[in-house]
Amino acid sequence: MRLMTEIDLDRVLVLEQSLHATPWTRGNFCDALGSGYLCFVKQVDREIAGYAVLMPGVDEAELLNIGVAYEYQHQGLGRYMLEALLLAAREKKLSRVYLEVRASNFPAIALYQRAGFSQIGLRRGYYQIDTGREDALVMVRDNLAGSING
Ligand SMILES: CC(C)(COP(=O)(O)OP(=O)(O)OC[C@H]1O[C@@H](n2cnc3c(N)ncnc32)[C@H](O)[C@@H]1OP(=O)(O)O)[C@@H](O)C(=O)NCCC(=O)NCCS
Repeated sequence: MRLMTEIDLDRVLVLEQSLHATPWTRGNFCDALGSGYLCFVKQVDREIAGYAVLMPGVDEAELLNIGVAYEYQHQGLGRYMLEALLLAAREKKLSRVYLEVRASNFPAIALYQRAGFSQIGLRRGYYQIDTGREDALVMVRDNLAGSING
């Protein structure tokens, strides 16, 4: 995994638009890069197969985005990137990572649970979707210090 740069954005945007109903724009990614968020890409051979964005705070961080190209899913890349993000957060002395996820996004919820996240809240109608609104689960991975191998 390596840090994302603006040069990566053409490919990242193709993936983002294929993976999300309400995708981030180029401006969203540029803002994240310019704001010092931890933005990573994961390459397989020479191709970007996945990406992730973590917003660091004072004592905690928020996972804002993570995606793996369809053709590379179910090969452990999502888990690999998430563990690398948690390690990066721990190295920055952050003690917990929050995220929000659509209540119907079972692959992502399973990924987060496998990485030690647990649900701490529910935001009713948080997401706008074609058919109306959808709830968000709020999840946290706590006690990062000393709890991750490596
Ligand atoms: C969520 C996502 C990043 C997972 O990436 P991935 O590389 O396929 O995940 P992994 O191969 O590392 O799988 C790790 C674990 O996640 C869970 N998981 C992944 N895909 C799953 C699926 N389709 N159904 C159920 N569980 C799934 C499993 O627990 C899996 O562990 P296992 O393989 O031991 O069973 C990927 O599906 C994706 O990009 N989805 C679209 C974007 C998105 O929804 N992002 C999250 C919200 S911002």
